[in-house]
Amino acid sequence: MSTLPRIPMTRPTIDEATITGVADVLRSGWITSGPQVKAFEAAVSEYCGGRPVRAFNSGTCTMEIALRIAGIGEGDEVITTPLSWVATSNVILEVGAKPVFVDIDPMTRNIDLNRVQAAVTPRTRAVIPVDLAGLPVDRRRLYALAQQHKLRVIEDAAQSFGALWNGKPIGQRMESGSDFVSFSFHPNKNITTIEGGCLVLNDEREAKLAEQYRLQGVVRSGMDGMEVEVLGGKFNLTDVAARVGLGQLARLQEFTAERRDLARTYFELLSQPAQRLSIGLPVADFSNCNWHMFQIVLPEARLDCTRAQIMTELDAAGIGTGVHYPAIHLFALYRKLGWQPGDFPLAEQVCRNILTLPLFPGLARADVERVSNTLVAILTAHLK
Ligand SMILES: Cc1ncc(COP(=O)(O)O)c(C=O)c1O
Repeated sequence: MSTLPRIPMTRPTIDEATITGVADVLRSGWITSGPQVKAFEAAVSEYCGGRPVRAFNSGTCTMEIALRIAGIGEGDEVITTPLSWVATSNVILEVGAKPVFVDIDPMTRNIDLNRVQAAVTPRTRAVIPVDLAGLPVDRRRLYALAQQHKLRVIEDAAQSFGALWNGKPIGQRMESGSDFVSFSFHPNKNITTIEGGCLVLNDEREAKLAEQYRLQGVVRSGMDGMEVEVLGGKFNLTDVAARVGLGQLARLQEFTAERRDLARTYFELLSQPAQRLSIGLPVADFSNCNWHMFQIVLPEARLDCTRAQIMTELDAAGIGTGVHYPAIHLFALYRKLGWQPGDFPLAEQVCRNILTLPLFPGLARADVERVSNTLVAILTAHLK
């Protein structure tokens, strides 16, 4: 066991001004959805170039609601990636549609857009691309495909808040096209509302529907009028959470810059050992990526042990790591629906070997050095 301080895989940064702001909300007499949620939505909308934005209590229901607004359900197919948090495809099942997975591009680890074309059938209604680790999927090619096949797009941008495409923040309208954008503000994300998310919409009609799906389908009018026309759920964000989000949003640029610097340090320290040890490094993108995670792919064929063993040894050295993610189609629920090992070999290989290293604002260069040196030492000791 290491006597050095533990380096977690990630840690949120909540400043004192935010804590004071949260205390003010708690004392205000209004703690559920109210003025703070409105202010947070307005601030995220401004960040997204004025597009309509609604806040929710997760970055999962945002995608489910986008599917519902698009009228996607029974008998429809939605194309997505097997390398994501399982929420991405669970929402497709949740609305009664069928997920259609296509394999990844092993360099970017994102959905391989070349394979999307071949997966389109007359029943395909939408595609949910995921910006894994904050590296944006190519929006130009994505929207060219969507326009060609008349598909809706729900950008699973859970991990790419703060990332750019062609100089514009993900969430803004792009020249190449745009549609729904879903953000998550789970504590691991680049900014957090503890739990929460936002959906960026196309127009006020969609925004009104999003509000209905968010809270039991209710529409209020006048002093006492209430109507329910659609089946909504209970997905509203609290004012306490929104106040956290406002404090975080104010620091987005600073957080992203810090993450980029830390990622650069990883490249500086790992590029040479990666060649010697056949470690897969991420794409070194310092213009678009928000560096939500720094993920390596372990050299399975050259190691005498499992990934779990490497993680255990890093853990014993006081270093937290994570797996983002196991392949979705190999979970029991999805196997029961017919998927099996070998269906998406590139994703399966990456999913078996991917490892998320510590990266968060506040991590010191010395911490990145310790993680890199320890990792290299452990891998070297396990070479076959
Ligand atoms: C790629 C991806 N999609 C969807 C989600 C779901 O977000 P949430 O946890 O806020 O529901 C997450 C967050 O964990 C994610 O990383």
